[in-house]
Amino acid sequence: MVYILSMAQRLPTHRRAWRRTDNFTPGTAKLKLVTEPLPLPLAPTQVLIKVHAVALNHRDANIANGGNPWPVTPNGILGNDAAGEVLAVGDKVKAFAVGDRVSPITDTEFITGREPGRSWLAADEDGVLADYLIFEERLLVKLPENLDWVSCSILPCAGTTAWSAVKGLTIGQSILIQGTGGVAMFALKLAQASGLKILLSSSSDEKIATIQKSFPLTPIYGINYKKNSRWEEEVLKLTNGVGVDLVVENGGSTSLVQSITCTRRGGTVSQVGYLGGQDPTSLEHFVSMIIDRRVTVRGVNAGSRLDLEDMCAAISATSLKFDDIIDKVWDFNEAEEAIQSLWEGRQVGKYVLRITW
Ligand SMILES: NC(=O)c1ccc[n+]([C@@H]2O[C@H](COP(=O)([O-])OP(=O)(O)OC[C@H]3O[C@@H](n4cnc5c(N)ncnc54)[C@H](OP(=O)(O)O)[C@@H]3O)[C@@H](O)[C@H]2O)c1
Repeated sequence: MVYILSMAQRLPTHRRAWRRTDNFTPGTAKLKLVTEPLPLPLAPTQVLIKVHAVALNHRDANIANGGNPWPVTPNGILGNDAAGEVLAVGDKVKAFAVGDRVSPITDTEFITGREPGRSWLAADEDGVLADYLIFEERLLVKLPENLDWVSCSILPCAGTTAWSAVKGLTIGQSILIQGTGGVAMFALKLAQASGLKILLSSSSDEKIATIQKSFPLTPIYGINYKKNSRWEEEVLKLTNGVGVDLVVENGGSTSLVQSITCTRRGGTVSQVGYLGGQDPTSLEHFVSMIIDRRVTVRGVNAGSRLDLEDMCAAISATSLKFDDIIDKVWDFNEAEEAIQSLWEGRQVGKYVLRITW
């Protein structure tokens, strides 16, 4: 096997990785830092990546605490959002060279959108919370040059999810974004860049006020969904009774019918999250509502490699930055504390773990 390496560089033989303990008892460690051999030698089409930043998602806290609705492999490596540089490539790799800045995609069976299966990092296979990674080149995307490592790390999952959720809207249309988490804040950035009218719902007036102040580029109309259980009526009021063109739906079955109620006839609800838990009784009027409102309910499951590539092209074209939606940068060694803080819902925007080399 021939590797193409940067000059005088020696391949690492081991990596540090955060693996799940699978002990879901509150108060116990959810992660364990292990040093393990890298699965070398590289196959001809594989790429070795030196990781610089790993972004966390609600999903990571959920998986670490045993709440993922899909099966996960035992004691797997957490994380599905990483950015790093190519350290070595197998001798048949065509699209990447040593030094390229790359991210792996989140669902390794979702490249063009025509693959039949699904395989998510950190669930069906190991994730990316490690200092070195090995991926097939077909699972990698080159990152925008205008972003640093921390911002790049939020693109594959939170970014592509927001991109897929918002896709299709155009200047002057309106959007309701639910919550102030990672996907929501990314959607907010895309919505501002696209000239949309933005309604943002949150459980906290304080969070709404902070966001309105921090993102003054365009108006943000805040709605407190905790104080007002009929928040969909506020959305209708703010859109002259018509409803928004699109909802980024994060609540799931508990809020879906309300979201459809405040979407304009013929509009779209992008179903992204399920933060409100499972409650089938709330879906009683689901079918009649989608018929009545002629609404399209669009399931979002991150995005394909093509989606991530399209989004990177849009970011490069607009020089869009994401520093303002990074809540906190933690050290790689603080993964356990970061996951706990995420689980307690303390973040506004993104938590990122940085690896200092
Ligand atoms: N489908 C996909 O491809 C995909 C990809 C990534 C994430 N997700 C899912 O999308 C959701 C958001 O992920 P994330 O990483 O952005 O989460 P996150 O960063 O942890 O953010 C969660 C935020 O959502 C808000 N929230 C909590 N409960 C809510 C409810 N019942 N209704 C509406 N908003 C609520 C809260 O904001 P406030 O405190 O402001 O209310 C909370 O801070 C999760 O369910 C996650 O599993 C799906």
